[in-house]
Amino acid sequence: MDSRKKIIVLHGPNLNLLGQREPEVYGFQNLEAINRSIAEEGQKKGLDTEIRQSNSEGQLIDWIHEASTNYAGIIINPGAFTHYSLAIRDALAAIDLPIVEVHLSNIYAREEFRSRSVIAPVVTGQVSGFGAMSYLAALNIMEDLIRK
Ligand code: DQA
Repeated sequence: MDSRKKIIVLHGPNLNLLGQREPEVYGFQNLEAINRSIAEEGQKKGLDTEIRQSNSEGQLIDWIHEASTNYAGIIINPGAFTHYSLAIRDALAAIDLPIVEVHLSNIYAREEFRSRSVIAPVVTGQVSGFGAMSYLAALNIMEDLIRK
């Protein structure tokens, strides 16, 4: 059996547009480039990363359910679902895995509606505001969490 730990990285809605979408907020790197650096960082840490993006809530929920049996941890940027998706919150609450919530932007320093995450209370912790580095920090944190 492959003893390497598998982590699933989920990107939510509109993150497929990174690079073109409000680059002053989200940076100039596109999702493909960010995914490459996530995969590389994972390799350095001995973690295999499965990286997926969807604009649909139901799809993200199905992947969260799948994660509970096939992966050691979840890194998720739920995009705007962060602020209102009780269905994604419930899916994450239902599974017993370390979960790191990620945001490229500092959601507390923007519009009022972004400063509330309905996801935050059910995850292990959150990394917000470091651009693409938020994902790399999350991977490092995840490595520590799953080795404990
Ligand atoms: C985001 C922040 C959300 O408020 C926004 O809706 C996104 C991206 C971030 O990564 O900074 O789509 O999750």
